[in-house]
Amino acid sequence: MGIVLIGGEKGGTGKTTLATNMAAMLALQGKDVLLLDTDRQGTASFWATVREETEIEYRIACVQKFGKGLASQVRDLADRYDEIVIDAGGRDSMELRYSLGVCDRAYIPVQPFQFDIWTLRQMDELIEVAQGFNENLQAYIVLNRVSSNPLVREAQETLTFVREEGFQHLGLMDSVLRDRIAFRKSARDGLSVVEWKQDKKAAEEMNHFFREVYGG
Ligand SMILES: Nc1ncnc2c1ncn2[C@@H]1O[C@H](COP(=O)(O)OP(=O)(O)OP(=O)(O)O)[C@@H](O)[C@H]1O
Ligand SMILES: [Mg+2]
Repeated sequence: MGIVLIGGEKGGTGKTTLATNMAAMLALQGKDVLLLDTDRQGTASFWATVREETEIEYRIACVQKFGKGLASQVRDLADRYDEIVIDAGGRDSMELRYSLGVCDRAYIPVQPFQFDIWTLRQMDELIEVAQGFNENLQAYIVLNRVSSNPLVREAQETLTFVREEGFQHLGLMDSVLRDRIAFRKSARDGLSVVEWKQDKKAAEEMNHFFREVYGG
């Protein structure tokens, strides 16, 4: 079992997309999973509601939690579920900070075209602080919405930047998720891209990321 956080201080990087896909894929594996939405926008909760109303097999339990009690609530919930996936984000969000205090691993989506080294430095520091009281916390950057045009070498360029910066507390995922309409369309239907079944490449990318996160 584990508590996985998809987070970051930047908006629109793909946190909810990754969190909802992870939750659905865990459910497909028969895991008892909770999707924890700590974002007041409620995008993950909305996705779970669409899923429920469309009666998609493998209902995903999803709750919204905010504020101070978050860390202790997550610990309680961790006893009741096999896996918890937290969607947390937002600049200066307390929810992100509290979640970093209790999760096992954090994944930070980064988009090459809105790449921002300053925000990543902030994240690196935030992880360092969190590791002060959550010793086993590991955090990784995952590239998302990379151009699917092979001539655009933005993934390589971004990875080079990140490596040169030499973040002390942020690892780099091998998985790269590309910019594919399938990620938007599947989400609209309350599905993971794997269940949506209309874009093999998108499903392969998400599967690769999933295996990197959960092993197997
Ligand atoms: N790999 C991808 N390919 C295409 N579209 C994507 C991809 N990842 C995310 N998107 C789209 O980008 C938009 C932002 O993604 P998402 O809502 O997951 O980001 P977020 O980090 O949760 O945003 P926020 O900070 O507002 O919570 C959504 O419309 C989503 O469908
Ligand atoms: Mg979101």
